[in-house]
Amino acid sequence: MKTEDNFAFIIHPIDAKRDVSRKYPALGRLPVWLIDFLSLFFPPVFISQIKGIQSAANGRFLHGWFVACPLTPARMMSVPPAVAYGKIVQTGRLAERLGAKLLGLGAFTSVVGDGGITIAQRLKVPVTTGDSYTIATAVQAIIAAAQQLHIPVAQSCVAIVGATGAIGAVCAEMLAPQCAHLLLIGRRQEKLQDVAQKARATGCPQVTISNEMSALTQAHLVITVTSAVDAVIEAHHLRQGAVVCDVARPRDVSRQVATRRPDVLVIEGGMVEVPGAVDFGFNFGFPPRMAYACMAETMALALEQRYESYTLGKDIKLSQVLTIDKIATKHGFKLGGFRSFEKAVSEEDIARVRAYHLRLPTSTTDSQTIC
Ligand SMILES: NC(=O)c1ccc[n+]([C@@H]2O[C@H](COP(=O)([O-])OP(=O)(O)OC[C@H]3O[C@@H](n4cnc5c(N)ncnc54)[C@H](OP(=O)(O)O)[C@@H]3O)[C@@H](O)[C@H]2O)c1
Repeated sequence: MKTEDNFAFIIHPIDAKRDVSRKYPALGRLPVWLIDFLSLFFPPVFISQIKGIQSAANGRFLHGWFVACPLTPARMMSVPPAVAYGKIVQTGRLAERLGAKLLGLGAFTSVVGDGGITIAQRLKVPVTTGDSYTIATAVQAIIAAAQQLHIPVAQSCVAIVGATGAIGAVCAEMLAPQCAHLLLIGRRQEKLQDVAQKARATGCPQVTISNEMSALTQAHLVITVTSAVDAVIEAHHLRQGAVVCDVARPRDVSRQVATRRPDVLVIEGGMVEVPGAVDFGFNFGFPPRMAYACMAETMALALEQRYESYTLGKDIKLSQVLTIDKIATKHGFKLGGFRSFEKAVSEEDIARVRAYHLRLPTSTTDSQTIC
């Protein structure tokens, strides 16, 4: 039985050639610069209907739609925000015509400019960025990974890369009271100091800040969540036995880490199992029933019939994170299994990294890398 509960979610290409080819093989054969140039003139695209999401709490069904904004992250960040807003609002209007009651902003459509505020003002449908549930799941994932690897969080150095961002700042606030040393990495000194002050207020024994990625050699556990359009973490930046939860899309961690650092575990952040026999009608590269946390936030709010602009802007409150986590858990959303560079993490992967980690000294300031 279907109800009228529904949502729409905006996705966008990350890699112009690869992602455009999935929908339009002929267009995908054009050179990247031409696809990028033409994307400003492409209309928003209806991607698919989503069926079969079912609440574990009350059995209610939910359906939805994927709609796509044709701009890549690099394109969205290179045009004036007003131009990017225009394209995203146009895509939101397509969702409104479909009858969407709630609109989720995927990846860079929530990063650009003021984090959805202007976009929401220009649309009738309520809008959510999905960042609150993304924060909840990133923190849960790094703690779960630490447990599997027998890394004691309370004695560890935890680093947040992109700590001045909307997602990074709240991840820092949540992990500060749980670890021995919180390392905040970012580019804006003043904002880093603000985040550090909040972290110290939680009682964290040691909070340090850095503008250098090389500081990461101190960290046992890392959440990375920048809006850089290219990788910012290379193989030589990481400590031996480190665990990295990469929430950023596009990724922050260079693919070379997978081949050059067998001692390190990189997991994809924000991966969530959706309740019900969901059919997304579109392959975005995940195993069945898996979605990004930002998508799951939109779905969970619709199942809860909270058709409201839940997460907007760059100043996210811890209370918003805790509330959406409760709502999502109630309806049956849960952390997906670990994946690393598009592959499931095996028991052998965990055992290998655990073995490296067990050989290490416990001091939080030792910095060791192999490369
Ligand atoms: N997996 C999911 O479900 C999911 C959901 C939502 C968002 N995301 C991803 O999360 C990321 C961040 O989102 P957000 O909303 O927190 O963005 P945001 O508020 O714009 O923050 C971005 C952060 O990245 C830093 N940064 C940007 N470019 C950088 C560079 N070249 N080198 C180092 N640091 C850089 C910024 O530093 P400054 O302060 O110095 O500018 C800021 O700290 C994006 O990649 C987004 O796609 C993923």
